Amino acid sequence: MRISVVVFVVLAAAASRAQQMEPIQNPSARQGASLNGRWQALMDPYEAGYYDFHLNPIKDGGLGANRVPANKGDKFELVFLPATPTLAVPGDWNTQRPELLWYEGTIWYRHEFDYAPPATPRRQFLWFGAANYQAVVFVNGKKLGQHEGGFTPFQFEVTGLLKEHGNAVIVKVDNQRHADAVPPTMTDWWNYGGLTRDVKLVDVPETFIQDYQVQLEKGSGDRVAGWVRLNGARKRQKVAIRIAEANASVTVETGEDGYARFAFPAALSLWSPENPKLYAVAVEAETDRVQERIGFRSIAVSGTKILLNGKPVFLRGVAIHAEAPFRSGRVFSEADARTLLGWAKEMGCNFVRLAHYPHDEAMTRLADEMGLLVWSEIPVYWAVQWENAAVYARAERQLAEMIARDRNRASVVFWSMANETPLGEARTKFLSSLAAKARELDSTRLITAATLPHTGAPNTIVLDDPLGKALDVLGCNEYIGWYDGSPEKADRTSFQNTYDKPLVMSEFGAEAPYGNHGDENTAWTEEYQANVYRHQLPMLQRIPFLQGMAAWILMDFRCPRRFLSGVQDYYNRKGLLSDRGEKKQAYYVLRDFYHSTVATAR
Ligand code: GCU
Repeated sequence: MRISVVVFVVLAAAASRAQQMEPIQNPSARQGASLNGRWQALMDPYEAGYYDFHLNPIKDGGLGANRVPANKGDKFELVFLPATPTLAVPGDWNTQRPELLWYEGTIWYRHEFDYAPPATPRRQFLWFGAANYQAVVFVNGKKLGQHEGGFTPFQFEVTGLLKEHGNAVIVKVDNQRHADAVPPTMTDWWNYGGLTRDVKLVDVPETFIQDYQVQLEKGSGDRVAGWVRLNGARKRQKVAIRIAEANASVTVETGEDGYARFAFPAALSLWSPENPKLYAVAVEAETDRVQERIGFRSIAVSGTKILLNGKPVFLRGVAIHAEAPFRSGRVFSEADARTLLGWAKEMGCNFVRLAHYPHDEAMTRLADEMGLLVWSEIPVYWAVQWENAAVYARAERQLAEMIARDRNRASVVFWSMANETPLGEARTKFLSSLAAKARELDSTRLITAATLPHTGAPNTIVLDDPLGKALDVLGCNEYIGWYDGSPEKADRTSFQNTYDKPLVMSEFGAEAPYGNHGDENTAWTEEYQANVYRHQLPMLQRIPFLQGMAAWILMDFRCPRRFLSGVQDYYNRKGLLSDRGEKKQAYYVLRDFYHSTVATAR
């Protein structure tokens, strides 16, 4: 590459990094405007809106240039004409038009908005809740930068780029799968593409409160600890953190880097599933103020126990994909979240495993309110390229963005590094590094991962994955009775734990379409699925170091790997409920177990 081009590339990368800074904490509490609604949308499977016919990026950004035909002789094609069809934002594109159900490629979105400049100078950011999988963002023809990763928020500063009328935000979203992506090409869920979560224009003071963590001090039940970070010219400010209802507060002074740590005593009613107490917490700087509702609890391990607020807790759980009930597609609303989490609560759950990627923020905020403990996970799933440094960087970036978004959610107690990854030195190094990074970013929560079972002696599952050394809590997915032998095999299976650490059985279950009936030895019937649960539950109860379980899965979900016509029809049917909310027999088996007294801490 010629020097001049190298310099250009380096400067461009720096510019885009400069534009896309660390996430803004709690954007929904900030001034600004929602950009949700109907956006123009153009399918571009050949990326002809971005590359010329020799595959060079088009200099002015192609469709991103927001070109308008100059006159009747204008022959330029890369234009959003008024007749351009639209798509709803937020929302995956797959479930909005039949021809988009299986589409994997680029769709260009365009939206126009007005912006009334404030009386005093402020700063503006374009904020996206998520875009799957890669997004390139333009505003008024200027390329702001790009983001990779389909399940975490990102934003670009647009201060000084907006005009009073007719601002055009254009986003190139590409959901193509790649072997060096996170997740890689093979997953067991639908590759929903698009601007799948809220889009906002966030408006903040010139120096604003960019990020903060306010939680119980690790190991404490009556001291609040955390930090605050300002962004802007006036970095040194007095900042107060107030919990008025508890009559507790502290005032600190940020340094030249805009950062300050704090700790202060507070007599609080601790958050738990039984008592999901949330406090109004205000963070008040001299130039900015932000408030939100935060719960305070401690989570720790002691030997093979999990301690919530110092007491052993047993996690009665279920796994959930971000699949919208009834309408299918990606969950993006509080209504979707309330339906799914309501079903989990009704079943007697105090715990949900949000598989296999960070869910919409509505899920974790609602889990705070409803009293559900949360396992949150990055999509380091199955066959990842463990020796590719760029892949590690992608995984670490998604981990940082997941933690940044939910660092103040009492419900989130686990950060999960991966799911069902194959044993190997490179993989264990990759995941152990991620675990160390997670602890560096957040020392208050427990680190886990869902591992594959390792059969030792016949009918003995040994928990000896080397990754266990890097985890606080072991996760294990086992399918005795479905992928592994008969349901009765569970009756003679035992577990050995080579670590003095708690186990959460992070998946177990079987598959049956709702309404498919037969005898309990006939696969794919509700009776077979229920019978698997009837043999699984006593086996799980016999595991002394088991401190939690998450049945796979709450609800049937779309899946391109599930071919059986008339049975799966490209759905994974392991749901305890159908995608239409119909309860299968296995739902009642697990519900009765969770409502019984046995499903409690050992
Ligand atoms: C695996 C995997 C899930 C998958 C499930 C299944 O354990 O973690 O993502 O959907 O099994 O096969 O149904």
